[in-house]
Amino acid sequence: MDKFVIEGGCRLTGDIYVSGAKNSVVALLPATLLLDVPCIIDNVPDISDVTICLDILRALGADVERLQEGTYRISTAHVNKTEVPPELARKMRASYYFLGALLGRSHHACAAMPGGCDLGARPIDQHLLAFETLGAETTLIRDRGSDGREFVDAVRLDADALTGTNISLNVVSVGATMNAILAAVKAKGVTVIENCAREPHIVDLANFLNYMGAHITGAGTHKIMIAGTDTLCGNDALEGSVEERTYSVVPDQIEAGTFMVAAAATRGDVRIHGVIPYHMRDIAERLIECGASVEVVENEDGEDVCIRVYVEENRRFHSVNIKTEPYPGFPTDMQPQMAALLTLAEGQSNIIEQIWESRFRYVEELRRMGAHINTTMDGAIIFGVPALHGCSVKACDLRAGAAMMIAGLAAEGTTEITEIGHIERGYSHIVEKLRGIGANITRV
Ligand code: EPZ
Repeated sequence: MDKFVIEGGCRLTGDIYVSGAKNSVVALLPATLLLDVPCIIDNVPDISDVTICLDILRALGADVERLQEGTYRISTAHVNKTEVPPELARKMRASYYFLGALLGRSHHACAAMPGGCDLGARPIDQHLLAFETLGAETTLIRDRGSDGREFVDAVRLDADALTGTNISLNVVSVGATMNAILAAVKAKGVTVIENCAREPHIVDLANFLNYMGAHITGAGTHKIMIAGTDTLCGNDALEGSVEERTYSVVPDQIEAGTFMVAAAATRGDVRIHGVIPYHMRDIAERLIECGASVEVVENEDGEDVCIRVYVEENRRFHSVNIKTEPYPGFPTDMQPQMAALLTLAEGQSNIIEQIWESRFRYVEELRRMGAHINTTMDGAIIFGVPALHGCSVKACDLRAGAAMMIAGLAAEGTTEITEIGHIERGYSHIVEKLRGIGANITRV
């Protein structure tokens, strides 16, 4: 079994570069199904979720060409299927974006629900609400598990037409907002989506589609308006020769935040490049509250903007209370990483997780490293300890794995992290990046 081995106690120092956002690119790639011309997407992170998305596009009939590391040319002209291969759909959460894209493209779509779990764990009722409001008929394909319990195995969508309308989401949902945009962008007439999520990756999807000729306004606010269009072939294609447009994936706010917390936890001095500082505000505020220095640094010609995180070597961290919220609040995807840092903060820190009902599986692993942390009904209470000690732990999921890396980097001694596939799903070249700022980490 592959694992990461980390020798803790190294101050992280130097320059690290953030890749394109996982939670954006898993929507941008399905969105190419809506285009009427090829496009080039760059700043694509080298992660398994991207590999699966590209495999799904190829399975549907798309031409996918890797031009260089992180850059792909995609043409969906020959796509003639509307069903996502179940064995691929089940490998990642976000395969449901192919539902919205295929529905928007050809008014038919079918995709398996990841992992055969029922809709309760991570419901998609709001996604279905959006599709049905636009005119689609939903068929839930059910199956029975080995325990005899019935669950939704796949979702099929069929529509005679998609008609622009008002969609009022009952929950602030990133996925439902993205899927509503994908399904509405070629619907007839105007669609208004209310109670939208406002994450940077939602803005990125709208920017990409607008760059290809869509008419989407309001992304990043709670209200998005879409004037449906028949074709998406680049809004200012040169007469005669439609140049192939290149779109760059937005920097990954959560990868950047993970590096910021790792820099603070090791009392280091790190400059994080390729970020959009505005996206990092709430994370920066928490780290400053905790006792770190966080500043935006521009080089002399203003070409390169980075965030510098610096902590004096013997500084004890202050306890901080965290409540996760939709953007622009503190991101739930940064909650485990911040908890790892707070295990070393003086006093009591309280974490309230408002997005996911079970995002504390990492707590047991941190306890094994000497953390003093208790879970409560809706969160965790952390009593700071002077130091963590390395031991063998596992990555319970993607961000829990990131938390274990941070704990291992800050701990005394050796930490071994197993089940690292979870981590490599969302962090590209993570070992090389961390080694580049002085981490003693090896993949074995
Ligand atoms: C996206 O998940 C991200 N995943 C998650 O990141 C992230 O934690 C989450 O947004 C919140 O920011 C991707 O973008 C691929 P939601 P998503 O719909 O879209 C409830 C990571 O670590 N809800 O915003 O699935 C839901 O139960 C991953 O990168 C409904 O009730 O999240 C949750 O309580 C983990 N009905 C809340 O809304 C629905 O139809 C927010 O979920 C949909 C969601």
